[in-house]
Amino acid sequence: MKKSLIIAVAGAGTMGVTLARLFAQYGYETILWNRRSSSLERGEAEIRKELEALKAGNIIAEEPEKIIGRLTFTTDWNDFARADYVIENVAEDMDVKAEFYKKLCTFVSDDTIIASNTSGLKIGDIAASVSKPQRFCGMHFWNPPDLLPLVEVTRGAETAEETSDKIFELALLLDKEPIRVKKDILGIIGNRLQLSVVREALYLLSLDIASPEDIDKAMKYGPGLRYPILGPLESLDFTGLDVADAISTYLYPDFCSDMRSQVLTDKIEEGKLGVKTGAGLFDYPDDAGAKKLRWRNDMLLQLRTLLKGKEFKNV
Ligand SMILES: NC(=O)c1ccc[n+]([C@@H]2O[C@H](COP(=O)([O-])OP(=O)(O)OC[C@H]3O[C@@H](n4cnc5c(N)ncnc54)[C@H](O)[C@@H]3O)[C@@H](O)[C@H]2O)c1
Repeated sequence: MKKSLIIAVAGAGTMGVTLARLFAQYGYETILWNRRSSSLERGEAEIRKELEALKAGNIIAEEPEKIIGRLTFTTDWNDFARADYVIENVAEDMDVKAEFYKKLCTFVSDDTIIASNTSGLKIGDIAASVSKPQRFCGMHFWNPPDLLPLVEVTRGAETAEETSDKIFELALLLDKEPIRVKKDILGIIGNRLQLSVVREALYLLSLDIASPEDIDKAMKYGPGLRYPILGPLESLDFTGLDVADAISTYLYPDFCSDMRSQVLTDKIEEGKLGVKTGAGLFDYPDDAGAKKLRWRNDMLLQLRTLLKGKEFKNV
């Protein structure tokens, strides 16, 4: 794949803005499309600010202006006609996506590869609104997409192998760690794993087994610290499959099977929605939420730098 490729990112929200910057940082001519220009103006300002911070921190070598020069901010559907790839990041709503794809397909060329960053919708369902659905698949990034390496490449029943291969290759070109998801499953893999943990953590909290801080510590300093090195399945071989099987027989029946968390519904009723309202399961007075987010991003970058290229080799 050559850097002469043109990438269109559709939707200038949380994910689209960061992804457009990422593609431009990696040298690609990038079109950031949004239906409203106000989001594009916000997105451009955010990209400038972020590139300047990355340059000041010596994380990128190139001048921000040069990277910005590879970006086109547009509300014009005609710009999609130039794209080799369209990575869709519009709102997570089937009706919105369906309307978007129907219109998009009247502007792109027949061989344009199209991928959705949907977190929860099935690729096969979105594909119903895509002409030539064999050139369509899922490319699910994790937030923040510039720092988290996982990209889940998902396929619908009609997705051609060549399409998911090309999207996989595109993810590799961004220094990501893509995985191939063989079946179109709700929530894909990362979210299913993550939400299983979330459900049990909220359940433990509802039973007052420990404080929220201590429940988080149990993950951060226990299994969570091991997971970037050995995944849950690799870890099982070190536990011993017979031991794991014996534990599961008495522990699985004791796990949470609630379909909804009372802890969450109570907090929502109190107007405590998390960082955005200044309180959730924890409190965020003043700018504590923004500071913690910056700290998280800094730690993620350090961790990624530490672990990159250090996969186990049996030599
Ligand atoms: N935020 C995350 O953590 C995250 C992580 C991975 C994947 N995703 C996925 O990425 C996609 C975008 O999520 P986001 O968090 O960036 O959302 P967002 O709400 O920040 O942005 C959504 C964008 O969609 C646009 N939009 C809304 N209605 C539209 C319409 N009718 N037609 C065209 N555009 C419209 C908005 O202008 C906005 O730019 C979703 O599919 C989401 O599931 C989000």
